[in-house]
Amino acid sequence: MDWATQPDPFRRYVGAPLLPLPCEEKYGIDRGSDRTATPLNRDAAGWFLRYSMGLSAWKAYRETRWALRVNPSSGNLHPTEAYLVHDARIFHYAPREHALEERACIPHDIWRSFLGGDEGFLVALSSIQWREAWKYGERAFRYCQHDVGHAIAALRVSAALFGWSLRLLPEWPDEQLATLLGIDRDDDRGDAEPEHPECIALVRPASAPAGDPAPLAAAARSATWHGRANVLSSGHDEWTIIERVTQATHYTGQPTANSHTPTPPPLRDESGARFGETSPTSSRALILQRRSAVAFDGRSTLSRDRFLAMLSALDPSLPPFDAIDWPPHVHLVLFVHRVEGLTPGVYAYLREPAVLDEWQRLMRPEFPWEAVAERLYLLVPTDVTWAANRVSCDQAIAGDGYFSLGMIARVESALHDRGEWFYRRLFWECGMIGQMLYLEAEAAGSRGTGIGCFYDDAVHEVLGLAGREWQSLYHFSAGMPVEDARLTSEPGYSWELRTT
Ligand SMILES: Cc1cc2nc3c(=O)[nH]c(=O)nc-3n(C[C@H](O)[C@H](O)[C@H](O)COP(=O)(O)O)c2cc1C
Repeated sequence: MDWATQPDPFRRYVGAPLLPLPCEEKYGIDRGSDRTATPLNRDAAGWFLRYSMGLSAWKAYRETRWALRVNPSSGNLHPTEAYLVHDARIFHYAPREHALEERACIPHDIWRSFLGGDEGFLVALSSIQWREAWKYGERAFRYCQHDVGHAIAALRVSAALFGWSLRLLPEWPDEQLATLLGIDRDDDRGDAEPEHPECIALVRPASAPAGDPAPLAAAARSATWHGRANVLSSGHDEWTIIERVTQATHYTGQPTANSHTPTPPPLRDESGARFGETSPTSSRALILQRRSAVAFDGRSTLSRDRFLAMLSALDPSLPPFDAIDWPPHVHLVLFVHRVEGLTPGVYAYLREPAVLDEWQRLMRPEFPWEAVAERLYLLVPTDVTWAANRVSCDQAIAGDGYFSLGMIARVESALHDRGEWFYRRLFWECGMIGQMLYLEAEAAGSRGTGIGCFYDDAVHEVLGLAGREWQSLYHFSAGMPVEDARLTSEPGYSWELRTT
């Protein structure tokens, strides 16, 4: 890691018109009990971005000041960029300014025919891999993908605040997505770090099919574009393995997925009520207060009910998982330390119950598989704080909280059946799970931390898993945080000082 080349956390398209978004929210909060969807105008879309990809705080220690965002990111490096296509205009979101950079405009008739009307907009994500590679080298590819998953869930949860549905559009190949976002335009990039297309989603009051991507991409190709990408670092290292895996997981598009029926996401507030039943204000507060714990107190406990409620938020049939079109591939192995009424030990939590037989067959024969709650099985009843620390790169946060966990994904047959491109989606699913656990931890008056540094082989060893079918792809921990009192904190935007 070379501090001299630390990347600028904010991409800008210099020269593109900057459209400020409103500082006062008029949307969504007063939706009332009938849950009528907020009109999808540009200002409301801006608020949707504020609650998913905007800044959540500015932290400072002595002379150093840095921004945190609503979506978490490995090392706070934030490789994920967001784009909005609204009313035939293509925008890049500038989170520091909370503004839209207008990159291009496409003909209205092409836009309307894609949407099948006027209602709806597109939101898309790209990754600047260099941001992560600067610190993490070849691990950057997977961290970028985790971050995309966190961002997808953050977008879905934010859409729900406004009564909108959000679903990824699998029919968009990487090439057409890059063209729509203008990130394949070498002339506008110059020496700036490349952005890689990740995914695009349609936001609407209710889930409905969208049109063919090709005319939209063709219109973008022949549009007039504004702005040039800023250079983030003064120097770069080459990571050819990242380029190779990016190429290997290249996505060529799939037929349109089934449409989904949206329901409110399963967040809860301090009272334990479901998100859909709570005041929209408390949901917004939870979203903005989400942080990663840097340390846990090593003694607080979590109630069993709250623990089970946190896990139930990972139900694949509920938002945010209705944003994706594949069945659950990721399940949990938990290291439970301090959950009242639960024996400390290793547990399995199956997001899809049908996996039970297979896991019982593949894991250590001595595991008792004692059913302790719906989808939750005790495998090893013992103190596992040391083991949890060890498998999470010896990080104390994995042993000092209520619990930590590994996300175990079906990899080999999934890639064989679907293609290598699905590898990215497995990390997205993990990131989405992580995002819901972060929010659930906040709702429980606690805190979570995503753990991207872990030893996968050590996890497989604990479980007795051989082969490549099931792989640990991401870890997470939750507990009672110990705050770093040396840091000062300000709201994400100066205009919020008036209201906080
Ligand atoms: C994919 C991912 C991996 C992470 N890995 C670790 C980790 O191994 N150890 C850790 O202490 N924090 C980890 N974090 C937490 C980040 O450091 C944190 O999200 C970032 O500093 C931004 O802070 P915030 O989450 O409070 O906004 C991870 C976060 C993500 C999203």
